[in-house]
Formats: sequence, structure tokens, C-alpha cells
Amino acid sequence: MPARRISIVNQKGGVAKTTTAVNLAVAFASRGKRVLLVDYDPQGNASQFLGVYDQLGRADLYTSASFTLDGRAAFAPFKDVNGHRGLDLVPANDTLADLELELLRDSMGASARLSQAVARVEPPYDFILADCAPTLGMLAINAMVACPDILIPVKLEPASLPGAVRLAGHLQGLREKVNPSIEILGVLATFFKETGTMSREVLGQLAELFGDRLLKTRIHDSASIGKSAGKGAPIYSLAPGQRGAVEYDQLTDELLDLIKNQEIIISTQKGAA
Ligand SMILES: Nc1ncnc2c1ncn2[C@@H]1O[C@H](COP(=O)(O)OP(=O)(O)OP(=O)(O)O)[C@@H](O)[C@H]1O
Ligand SMILES: [Mg+2]
Repeated sequence: MPARRISIVNQKGGVAKTTTAVNLAVAFASRGKRVLLVDYDPQGNASQFLGVYDQLGRADLYTSASFTLDGRAAFAPFKDVNGHRGLDLVPANDTLADLELELLRDSMGASARLSQAVARVEPPYDFILADCAPTLGMLAINAMVACPDILIPVKLEPASLPGAVRLAGHLQGLREKVNPSIEILGVLATFFKETGTMSREVLGQLAELFGDRLLKTRIHDSASIGKSAGKGAPIYSLAPGQRGAVEYDQLTDELLDLIKNQEIIISTQKGAA
């Protein structure tokens, strides 16, 4: 089975893309999956989150910019990053911002550069995850073409809705023009608040917009999730058993089930053909 390739995308900032990418990557690895997390944001937050902060300035660092340009030839991720067995990381630093400019200048095939690199390293990974920056520029397009299962975290506030609709339209365009495999794997409601009605109202609107693509798991607004990110540790390491950890565990189960069911449908269709 080829690796399942998932991009975590939303052009809106601060909606928990990185928190979701890192916690999911750690959770997949803790269940025995081989995971490659590609930090595709020049801010390097996922890399910082996984504790490689003080290495991001190293001149010889192998980053997601080098990965995009060189592919397998020099493939050198951090292995078992931060002690998480089975989780490899290709970190990012601001060289990725320079790469974006280069890709914009070289329009020929520029949207498929990361895809070509990823295709060459797929084995032995079960999952390749890309954490995207809060823009829909050439980097995000590369990520989505390379990792066409799109996971969209949406912060539960009314201002999130127009952007989510715009993103869905953008995905439709990319699917038609660049990669027909691009699909919304799931829309993940984040920063759920029990108090007041706002979270529930926005959740209702997301359900109307995205139907069964809206995941059942929702992530509460939780100080422990914020704190664990600030300390460079995924929620599992820092606050096991707390609600945030339980919810990211539920998300992992839900996605693994969803993916398993999709694979069963695909193999049944192949069998019938
Ligand atoms: N469920 C949550 N409850 C409370 N705080 C959270 C939660 N999820 C994430 N945070 C915090 O919110 C901030 C933004 O989260 P994160 O960096 O994951 O968002 P992002 O979408 O990746 O942001 P950017 O668009 O800048 O890449 C971080 O400080 C993080 O610790
Ligand atoms: Mg981020």
C-alpha cells in the first residue's frame, strides 16, 4: 500500500494546523505507523514544536526546501524525532520562503516539485503529512499536489466560514487543473467552547457546508493544548489523559477508520473491475 499523503491546510492563521499536524504525526507513530512529517511552513513551527528549534539555523541543515529541490538524492530527515519512534521530520526554516519565490519564477511544473520528491521516498512510510503555512501560495499548492488528502482545521468562529468556502473552491480548481486525487479528507472543528452558542452555531454551518466531510471529533479550546505547544511537546507527552490528548486520540481513530473504509471501497472497486 502506498503512503497516505495528507496536507493540513487553511489559509487562515492560528487555527491549529501545526498543533493538529504534530499531534497526529506523533499519534500515528505511537500506533506503529511509519510517518514522515514535512514542515512546509517557513515559520518552522512544527519543527520547533518537535524540539529541533536550536538546529534550524544550521547552514548544512536538510530542510523541506532542499527536499523539494533535491528529492531522494540527499534525503536526510531527522529520524525518530524527539524520541518518537517511527516519526521522521523534514524541518523548515526561512529558506523555504526563498524557494517559494524561485518556484513562482519557474512556472513550468513548479506545482509538482514536492510531489516528485515525495514519490521517490514513499517507502517505508505509511503516512506523509505536510504542515502548511497560512497562505495559499505556491508552497501550499506544492503540498496539496504532493499530499492530496486535505485535512482542514477550522477555528469555530464566524470569521472562519468565508475562508473555508474559498478554500473548498480553490481545491476544486486544483483538482480539475493539477491533481484529480485532491479531496477533502476531513474538516476538523477546533477551539470548541462550551460556553455560549457561537461554537455550536458555527459547527452547524460547517455541517451544512461540508456534510459528512465534517469530522465527528472536535477539539475543545484547551489551555493544556496551548501550553504543550509552547513547551515543544505534543499533548500526549505532556498531558496524557487530559481532554486535549483524548480528543487528538479520537481524531486519530476517526481518520484511521475513515482511511481503512476508503481503502476497502477502492479494493472492492478494483476487484469488481
Ligand atoms: N485546541 C486548542 N486550544 C487552545 N489553544 C490551542 C489549541 N490548538 C492550538 N492552540 C494554540 O493556538 C495557537 C495556534 O495554533 P497553531 O500554531 O497550531 O495554529 P496554525 O494554524 O498552525 O497557525 P499558523 O497559521 O500560524 O501556522 C498556538 O499557540 C497553539 O498552541
Ligand atoms: Mg502552523
